[in-house]
Amino acid sequence: MVSERSAVQAEVLVASNRGPVSYGLGEDGGLTAKRGGGGLVSGLSAIGQSTRGAERLDEGQRSGDGQADAVWVCAALGDGDREAVRRTGGVLDPGDTGGQRVRMLDIPAEVYAAAYNGIANSVLWFVHHMLYQTPLEPVFDAEFRAQWAAYETYNAAFADALAESAADGAAVLVQDYHLALVPGMLRERRPDLRIAHFSHTPWAPAEYFAILPDDIQRQLALGILGADRANFLTRRWAENFLACAETGLGGQCERVRPEDGAPGIVALVPERKARTTWIGVHGLGADAAFLRERAHRPDVEERMTALRAQIGGPDRKTIVRVDRTELSKNIVRGMLAYRQLLADRPEWRERVVHVAFAYPSRQDLAVYRDYTAEVERVAGEINAEYGTPGWQPVVLHVKDDFARSLAAYRLADVALVNPIRDGMNLVAKEIPVVSDAGCALVLSREAGAHEELGAHALTVNPYDVTGTAEALHEALSMDEGERAARCERLAAAATALPPARWFLDQLQELRG
Ligand code: F6P
Repeated sequence: MVSERSAVQAEVLVASNRGPVSYGLGEDGGLTAKRGGGGLVSGLSAIGQSTRGAERLDEGQRSGDGQADAVWVCAALGDGDREAVRRTGGVLDPGDTGGQRVRMLDIPAEVYAAAYNGIANSVLWFVHHMLYQTPLEPVFDAEFRAQWAAYETYNAAFADALAESAADGAAVLVQDYHLALVPGMLRERRPDLRIAHFSHTPWAPAEYFAILPDDIQRQLALGILGADRANFLTRRWAENFLACAETGLGGQCERVRPEDGAPGIVALVPERKARTTWIGVHGLGADAAFLRERAHRPDVEERMTALRAQIGGPDRKTIVRVDRTELSKNIVRGMLAYRQLLADRPEWRERVVHVAFAYPSRQDLAVYRDYTAEVERVAGEINAEYGTPGWQPVVLHVKDDFARSLAAYRLADVALVNPIRDGMNLVAKEIPVVSDAGCALVLSREAGAHEELGAHALTVNPYDVTGTAEALHEALSMDEGERAARCERLAAAATALPPARWFLDQLQELRG
């Protein structure tokens, strides 16, 4: 397949569903840009730090020859984004994006909704996080097939845009389950490119992945194996992917284990002319420098004052959690564990507050709206059951506010991170870096972060409410010296691979 090339050709391209900026559309027709954060944003802005990247960047700027250092391709997510694409042709103002070149794709709204809500978030997310209640769901019927066709169209739109914008032999880093078919599609369009795929989620065990229809399993495995490198957050997820590829592709996929035991594992796909895909592990860490600086700004101090007033008494301890209101985060069981703590250990009543931030997520899906309502209901029940005039046992906030999250991080005595399943969980890594007095971490064994932090945390089975209540008691009772020492070890492990290094390692590996 031959593709058209656009005027600007990039040496490095990143593709993800959600880009580094989104736009709100005011009633007066004005657009407000809102910049996002996260590992990819820091990673991409670090390209200039890599030797080859820096050379290219200088060349491009000097020569004005149409070579761009990097381009980020993402989707328009809502009306504001679509309007921005209409006004700019999709090439966004670098002033809005923190200086990054961003190409935003306006995929038809109904195609986007079916791909994002239908397949990505209601099928792939559910499979990888093992969220189905299997007696009734999933049902792979005609509606699913129509949504799958939309998912293919949406992936093809990304593959087309990347093929158009990539310089000869460019490096393309494709992100996440939304774009699982892109590596294979892009390789067909541009065999000269170096392509990587990164999974930010867990990968399902082979027996669970087998819930999906056989042809869909094959398409997903072949899509990702279209990349030269398929990267995961932990070895566990990488191993699961390999098992799924072997099962789904049968004899087409041959696995080779490197003799040196290096994380790189090779999969051969003879059907694709014995191409090799290296499977890698890159455990994204917290950005210590950014977090520590940001957490000491005046807006965070203000919010600490407000939170302290809500917590009450100066000697009260805090159990902090900060999540999207996401089914896999297990917020309700966390609250049930807190309720059991108050029931079984009355000595903690009036002496502890559960500070729970549950920020809105995926509210187009009924199951997420219901879950949000359940979180609020259980928090209300605990407050009604145990609250006193001077003590509100659960302080729940549902409006997203990063400065307030950092304020809670600083005040945390105990961090509760108990997901059913999670690719990594950066909150588990961020709180110990920022906590003022040093916090204890109660951590689910099913979070990817457990591979790195487990030795210094209190490990819980996320389904075991009684066990979680006991771990909360142990964390609250921990001697201050031990807590601070553990917290230091947690922070060191959490920051071992900062986002810029995480990204540049992958880029350098890809360029070989
Ligand atoms: O964990 C995968 C991921 O894509 C994260 O990178 C991100 O935090 C989350 O899912 C966001 O989901 P959404 O874009 O649907 O809000």
